[in-house]
Amino acid sequence: GNYTGALRPQIHFSPPEHFMNDPNGMFIDAEGTYHLYYQYNPTDIVAGNQHWGHATSKDLYHWENQQIAIFPDTPEEGIFSGSAVVDVNNTSGFFPNQTNGVVAIYTLNTPQEETQEIAYSTDGGYTFTKYSGNPVISINSTQFRDPKVIWHAPTSKWVMVVSYAQEFTIGIFTSSNLKQWTHASNFTNQGLLGLQYECPNMVTIPMNGTNELMYVLMISINPGAPQGGSITQYFPGSFNGTHFTAVDNAARIADFGKDNYAGQFFYGTPDGQPPIFIAWASNWEYSQVVPTGPLENWRSAMSLPRVNTLANITRTGYDLVSLPYDLSTVYDTQIAKNSSLGNGTLLLDYSTVASGAVYFEANVTGIPTINTTGTLNFTFTSSTTGESLRGGFFFGGDTPFWLDRGKIGGFDNPFFTDKFSTNNIISNGKFQLQGVIDRSIFEVFLDGGIRSAIATFFPEGPLDQLAISAGDLNPGVKVSVNVWGLKSAWA
Ligand code: FRU
Repeated sequence: GNYTGALRPQIHFSPPEHFMNDPNGMFIDAEGTYHLYYQYNPTDIVAGNQHWGHATSKDLYHWENQQIAIFPDTPEEGIFSGSAVVDVNNTSGFFPNQTNGVVAIYTLNTPQEETQEIAYSTDGGYTFTKYSGNPVISINSTQFRDPKVIWHAPTSKWVMVVSYAQEFTIGIFTSSNLKQWTHASNFTNQGLLGLQYECPNMVTIPMNGTNELMYVLMISINPGAPQGGSITQYFPGSFNGTHFTAVDNAARIADFGKDNYAGQFFYGTPDGQPPIFIAWASNWEYSQVVPTGPLENWRSAMSLPRVNTLANITRTGYDLVSLPYDLSTVYDTQIAKNSSLGNGTLLLDYSTVASGAVYFEANVTGIPTINTTGTLNFTFTSSTTGESLRGGFFFGGDTPFWLDRGKIGGFDNPFFTDKFSTNNIISNGKFQLQGVIDRSIFEVFLDGGIRSAIATFFPEGPLDQLAISAGDLNPGVKVSVNVWGLKSAWA
């Protein structure tokens, strides 16, 4: 693949060439290598002809592209989304002499049916053999897909969540050997329905500041997200080995932008560590028509790897807290530092950062709880075209954060929503803004990750100037700003 093009993300994963959608099969092996598979069309830059592409990484930023891992057997088959587990105890019987056997659980899509199949790998996840007894679940439906499997230690069972997509139902199945599956329960008509439920995930997530683990069920919906197309929602709750029960009936959306879909949690995160999540950073409303440069011949990137916890501090109750996984392996030099911005502006030309990728943060303290005033805004601008990506925060009242990609010129499409906002961000006297910009993807994290958004954007000239400015802040409010250049993980 050519990773030099103007739109090519430098610290985000994107496929060597051609079209990528959902992350699949994410697991960590015993040596600490992260395996990322993905929905992949190796012959075109639109969806179709679905395979499982594959890449590996030690730090979740530097990826090594691997050979395609799972292929369809005929042109009318598609290897659709799914998951992978490490069968350390050889429950499947595929691995008599090893502890590092990998089983992939995926949907086989044909015009006649969607069934759940498995394939096993004796070489640690690089090549797979399809199980001769496939399918392992078949219900005579064309809308039944995206199995995600975890190990449930209290019952010593594998647990699968899988979507009856057009019945707005997540089926829960259990198994002791990954081959025979028993239907245990359904989770139906919850939260936002959209037009389909896709890509469910069930995971345990630690509560911030405690050792308590809570189950979270994530469900992606498409089309029919509140802002159009696709988005991911989540349900905090409990799971007893057969039934998932949500804490309440609320729909909680994982992202206030439009480019966060079909995300997965890695299987095998060591006990005591928060789960790590990667989503497809796009939206089915426009993913197949967004610009790709002449050099590039690829479409779609993954989100940053994210570390996830839960918090119960806003008025809406449990929030998924999501922050970039340790960026230290891609940090370059700090290019700006201002510990007393006051009601001032920091102007930064970062055209010397070869990757074009930058991390920035602004920490605001001393915010009063009454008569709060002021704004904190940022603008990334292209010195060649004048295009800009902008956002900001109002400190007074029920004040929202806003983000605007509408002044970027390279993609004009009715579904490519310009403006996003979020509210209900708690302050506690302080506020933190963190962001990563990476050529054609921007990710923003508010107040330690209680709210976050991904926004893809397709500029005609590279963004290379940053302005961060605060205005009208109450006396005593302090703003400190730090900006780092990031090193390309692909150079
Ligand atoms: C979600 C999805 C899945 C399906 C896959 C096909 O984006 O539609 O439901 O398995 O993509 O590529």
